[in-house]
Amino acid sequence: MSAPRPLTADPAPYDDPLHDEPGPGAARCLGLYAKLAAGVSVVTARGEDGPLGMTVSAVTSLSARPPLLLACLRDGSRTLAAVRARGAFAIHLLREEQHDLAGRFASPTTPAAQRFAGTDTRQVLGVPVIAGALAWSVCLVADIRGYGDHHLVVGQVAAVHVGGGRPLLWHERRFRSLRELVPEGGG
Ligand SMILES: Cc1cc2nc3c(=O)[nH]c(=O)nc-3n(C[C@H](O)[C@H](O)[C@H](O)COP(=O)(O)O)c2cc1C
Repeated sequence: MSAPRPLTADPAPYDDPLHDEPGPGAARCLGLYAKLAAGVSVVTARGEDGPLGMTVSAVTSLSARPPLLLACLRDGSRTLAAVRARGAFAIHLLREEQHDLAGRFASPTTPAAQRFAGTDTRQVLGVPVIAGALAWSVCLVADIRGYGDHHLVVGQVAAVHVGGGRPLLWHERRFRSLRELVPEGGG
């Protein structure tokens, strides 16, 4: 008769399914990303010929002490190049009324000067800051690191302004507002 199997066995050798499986593919992952509800921001930096900026939904708070923010910028972005060159950038959290601004700063065919046209822009710590956002922060680059087809940009917060209003949201490839998602009074 064979000996009973021990109740506690050595764990199986560690398997890493992420590396063993081919993965679901970019198209299915983009479907998942579309389900992420996110605030919409504009990231700006000083370019060689004037201000640069782009719409970004991949922004998050990273740390309170020290205060750090995180943004994911695609490879090849002109704004990313300026962020890297200058070592500083601004993040503007947009208000729900600012969907046109967000559309302009996302349009690949709209040159930088046209993206900023009509905005009230001033320099804070040498970085272009657009007036009228829900909140903005000027950050000094703490780290830039490539992951896949984007770069993760970590900024140490050097200046902050918090205004009023409601955030502009991005969900299922559409601009949305809190008003639409959660009716006031819960009704
Ligand atoms: C709602 C929305 C969110 C976006 N979020 C990001 C983002 O998180 N990261 C990114 O690299 N591009 C994002 N984009 C695309 C950029 O805004 C777009 O590629 C822009 O033209 C880049 O500008 P640039 O190359 O002049 O820097 C987003 C676009 C939209 C409409």
